[in-house]
Amino acid sequence: MKVKQVLIALTAGAAFAMLVGVGSLSGISRVLADDDDAYREQSKIRRGFEIAPVPLNLLHKNPELVGLGSYLVNAVASCNMCHSAGTATEFAPNESPYFKGSEPAVVNQSTYLGGGRVFAAQVAGVTPPITSRNLTPDKTGRPVGGRTFEEFLYIIRTGTDLDHVHPNCSSLVTTGCFPASAPFDGDLLQIMPWPSLRHMTEHELRAIYEYLGAIPCITGPTMGVLHNDCI
Ligand code: HEC
Repeated sequence: MKVKQVLIALTAGAAFAMLVGVGSLSGISRVLADDDDAYREQSKIRRGFEIAPVPLNLLHKNPELVGLGSYLVNAVASCNMCHSAGTATEFAPNESPYFKGSEPAVVNQSTYLGGGRVFAAQVAGVTPPITSRNLTPDKTGRPVGGRTFEEFLYIIRTGTDLDHVHPNCSSLVTTGCFPASAPFDGDLLQIMPWPSLRHMTEHELRAIYEYLGAIPCITGPTMGVLHNDCI
């Protein structure tokens, strides 16, 4: 080999080595980042199980998703602050952290995510007023009164009210509806913070769904959209 050829061979070898090096380095940092994410998720899963305020039924459930879902529902998205019944029923009597000397707070299990909290009608004179829904599983074991994951995902991503509780008024529907003069779209869920929740990842929404399927069923009123057939 002439000197020039040797040089070329060496340079090519070095470039190849650098490529391999860079490739494996980025591979390593990817693995480390994955480990980091997994570690962070594990700590959320653990915390989720620590703070779940009700007994959980893990039968046929993915425990990691249930734990993460509990973390998101109970520590991040405050679902029960609205999805408990009536006004301020989310904590057991005299156990509300808003009152003096009542820490540690105790979540009211009998209304937990059972819905029924009434919010003032957004449009004067429109009945029924906006009421949070029952998110607990029914006898099918599926949450939100038997909704499939696909339906749940669709509801959260689009805000669509599949129950049509307060439709837009039309010639066929004249009561309990949003009049044409109302600025709100009656086909969409109101007050429910789907405009922000919809940005969660599918993995996180799957975890919330899995958790909601693991909490105890609440029957709710005997009739109407809040009613749930427990086993
Ligand atoms: C600020 C109060 C509030 C919070 C927080 C909230 N919701 Fe809601 N949610 C509502 C109200 C009110 C409705 C009913 C809206 C209507 O009738 O227009 C509703 C409706 C829903 C529905 C539709 C139910 C059905 O049968 O189609 C689902 C699903 C739901 N919420 C899930 C959740 C989950 C999961 C969380 C937490 C991640 C959550 N909500 C947090 C107020 C809230």
